[in-house]
Order: sequence, then C-alpha cells, then structure tokens
Amino acid sequence: MKINIKRGEVLCYEIQAKNQTLLEVLNEIKTTQDSSLAYSSGCRSGVCGSCAMRVNGREILACSYHVQDGDLVEPLNNAPVIRDLVVDMDKAYGFNAKAKAYLSADIDNILITHEEQKINELQSDCILCGSCYSACPVYAVNSEFLGPFALTRVWRYVSDKREQNPKEKIDNIQTNGVWDCTLCNACTLVCPQGISSKADIEKLRARSALVGYMDPNFASFGFSGGFDGSPIF
Ligand code: FES
Repeated sequence: MKINIKRGEVLCYEIQAKNQTLLEVLNEIKTTQDSSLAYSSGCRSGVCGSCAMRVNGREILACSYHVQDGDLVEPLNNAPVIRDLVVDMDKAYGFNAKAKAYLSADIDNILITHEEQKINELQSDCILCGSCYSACPVYAVNSEFLGPFALTRVWRYVSDKREQNPKEKIDNIQTNGVWDCTLCNACTLVCPQGISSKADIEKLRARSALVGYMDPNFASFGFSGGFDGSPIF
C-alpha cells in the first residue's frame, strides 16, 4: 500500500498495512522509515483531538481513520504549519476567550437538573480538534471570524441555566461572529463528535434577534427588523 504525506512537498511511503488506522501507519513510518516525520497524537482513542489532519481533502482524526491505498495526508487548513502534519492552533483556541465562551460567574451554589444539563450536553463534547476551523470557508478568508467551535461553546454557555449574563455573550458575538457564518454546514460534516456548529449559530442568531440584533446584511438594505430590543433572558 502507498500513502502520500504532504511535508511541504508530497512524499510517498510504501507500507504493509491491513485495516490499520492512519495513526498506527504514521507511527510505523516514523519508527521504521523516517524518524523525522512530525505529527501530533495523544489518547489514540478519539478523545483528545490532537491528531486531526486531512485525508484526501477531508478532516479526520488519524486515530479513527483507516488508511486506504493512495491516500493523501495533509495538515489541517487555515492554521500555520509548524512542521509536516503539526499545525499551530493557538489563534483558534484564543477565540474561546475572545468570545467569552465560559460561564461568567461563580456557579458553585447554583444547581441544575439532569434535564437542564442535557440541553447542551452535545456541545460540551467538543474536543477542540480544530477540524471545523480547517473546513470553514469563512475562517479561510477572515482570520478574525470567531469560528465554529468558539460559537458552539458560546451557545453551550448561553443556554446554560446557570449563566447569569447571557446577554453579554450575545452582545460579544455580533462582530466577526454569528452573522458572518454562511451556514454552509462544512463544520458539521467534519466534526468527529457529531456537533453542528451551524445549528448552534442559528440558535445564537435567534437569541440575537430576540434582544434586538439583526443580520447586518438586512440592515444595510434598510430593514428595521421591528424588534423592540426587550431582552428575554
Ligand atoms: Fe487523541 Fe486521536 S490521538 S483524538
């Protein structure tokens, strides 16, 4: 079996592989053929998110993907390549803080029911692998776009009954945020956790409208929207 790996230029490696994961193959290449090959991994079980990369143009987790003859392996898009398949995700991670994607107050004494916890359980499963930022066509052209996983996390906390100031979070995502998304769904298709950032962004748009915001594209056409701005929170 041949596998092609983009390391600046594309290099082809011949391997004996049968039903092996890409991570197992990368480990084999590194130990038997080329010790300089660089890639990231951790848990080897789809939990830590550190082995995200692209195969044949699509984002995958190397520890979950089973290699096929002729595969082309590349680093994630939309992040600086540190070396080979290792990218620098610091800028994207920084959007969690910029978007205030956290609970804003001490919640030690606020209890929620199991049902209330279920509301945003899926969003809490994000492993920050970066696949969604790699696939996002908006982030590709606007590096200040808050992006899929940060906005999913904002929804996770806006929808949390313990959050004391959800309006502040909504205020904070109006610029380079919810209205910049094209709703193309590319982020959803590549998320290994089955999270739909597109759906979360649509919910954030609905919350935004309920407190008086509207799509700036409509605003530029002169629509007033008719919202009274009364917060529902
Ligand atoms: Fe942790 Fe692949 S090594 S998700």
